Amino acid sequence: MNLAQAIAKAEFPEKLSCLFDPPRSRYRVLFGGRGGAKSWGVARALLILAARDQLRILCAREYQTSIKDSVHKLLSDQIADLGLDGFYEITQASIKGKNGSEFFFVGLKNNISNVKSFEGIDVCWVEEAQTVSKSSWNVLIPTIRKEHSEIWVTFNPELETDDTFQRFVAHPPKDCVIEKIDWSDNPWFPETLRLEKDALKERDIEAYNTVWEGVCRQTVDGAVFAREMQAADLEGRIMKVPYDPAKPVHAVFDLGWADATAIWFVQFIGMEIHLIRYIEDNQRTISHYLSVMQTYGYVYDTLWLPHDAQNKTLAANGRSIEEIVRAAGYKVQITSKVPVSDSINAARTIFPKCYFDREECAEGLQCLRHYRYDVDPDTKMFSKSPLHDNYSHGADAFRYIGLVVNEPRKVKKQTTYQLPASWMG
Ligand SMILES: Nc1ncnc2c1ncn2[C@@H]1O[C@H](COP(=O)(O)OP(=O)(O)OP(=O)(O)O)[C@@H](O)[C@H]1O
Ligand SMILES: [Mg+2]
Repeated sequence: MNLAQAIAKAEFPEKLSCLFDPPRSRYRVLFGGRGGAKSWGVARALLILAARDQLRILCAREYQTSIKDSVHKLLSDQIADLGLDGFYEITQASIKGKNGSEFFFVGLKNNISNVKSFEGIDVCWVEEAQTVSKSSWNVLIPTIRKEHSEIWVTFNPELETDDTFQRFVAHPPKDCVIEKIDWSDNPWFPETLRLEKDALKERDIEAYNTVWEGVCRQTVDGAVFAREMQAADLEGRIMKVPYDPAKPVHAVFDLGWADATAIWFVQFIGMEIHLIRYIEDNQRTISHYLSVMQTYGYVYDTLWLPHDAQNKTLAANGRSIEEIVRAAGYKVQITSKVPVSDSINAARTIFPKCYFDREECAEGLQCLRHYRYDVDPDTKMFSKSPLHDNYSHGADAFRYIGLVVNEPRKVKKQTTYQLPASWMG
């Protein structure tokens, strides 16, 4: 089939005309509930545009550990469906057109140098963009810098505070086309999805409104710190919280290798707990984090490591992370090992005293807002354990701050360090 036949074959829901009209727009944003034909529509539109003109297209998402996580499969299926197989060559990691067009696939999270290396991109499609963090957007957007280049964004909204929602819907940039598109706009809405949709509507109307109607909710379903985060918002405790050079900084760690390592930087100021910075990354050595920590110009008090920091690691010639950090000259404490529910309670007790820096803790705040209880697959009820996901590491490290503050007796046994008397109660 040639291009003219493919164009004649491709049908789009009416709302997707915004993908072609106006002919130039810096941003095109499609958001809404599940099954709105966003992904299919964008895939088809890009395949047709790249068959007409030579384009370099970057398909990005926040989390992509392998090409399987990307839209490579969706594009490949749509190529077959449009009858463009003769035009596009599909390899394991890329898709190339006979006219020199090319599709690339990248995960944004922790891949900053890789993202920056993409030059001359005409269109960047960011799929499942609800999870894209502020820092990922801040790297990606200036990378897409070719004259007349465009950024296409598709997502299912979740929380109003999510950066993607704030950036594109609450405060849309100039030169941005936005369309909300839901299942009711999709003429090919599949019957299987209709059954799922109707079942959820009966079971849980609030969840239904978010999942299918694309309405933001106040807190995620089963949010562990729902009330605490709402109070922090209402009481204005998410604000500018600068480093106070008169006080040292405590760094509280959750350690991971394939999973993220998360670190909160905390100052205890009078009765207040100042969260001045949060960072996370993965597949980095502890020495990497220590050198990053030196760039902030803080005076450090104690580095609080979780108990698994005491394990000897193969990667570090049989030394434990605790030993490496001590050898680097830091004061180290191990946060006590307690049941998760106890440390959640400990975190709840400190929450009202916490002041978060809006900018520097943006990713950590996302973790706290999205940290939620797992759902038992049998009963469909929330279990007592939180879900292990991309947000849980930042929340785990935050739980450890609760332990740091709430367990002075245990802490005292280990070393001579004591928190200020005001923390003992
Ligand atoms: N142009 C089309 N032609 C035929 N069927 C389509 C078309 N677009 C969408 N569909 C059907 O609608 C279904 C949902 O579309 P799609 O996966 O694009 O929705 P979505 O908005 O990306 O959903 P989600 O928010 O769940 O990712 C597809 O699986 C397909 O069955
Ligand atoms: Mg989709």
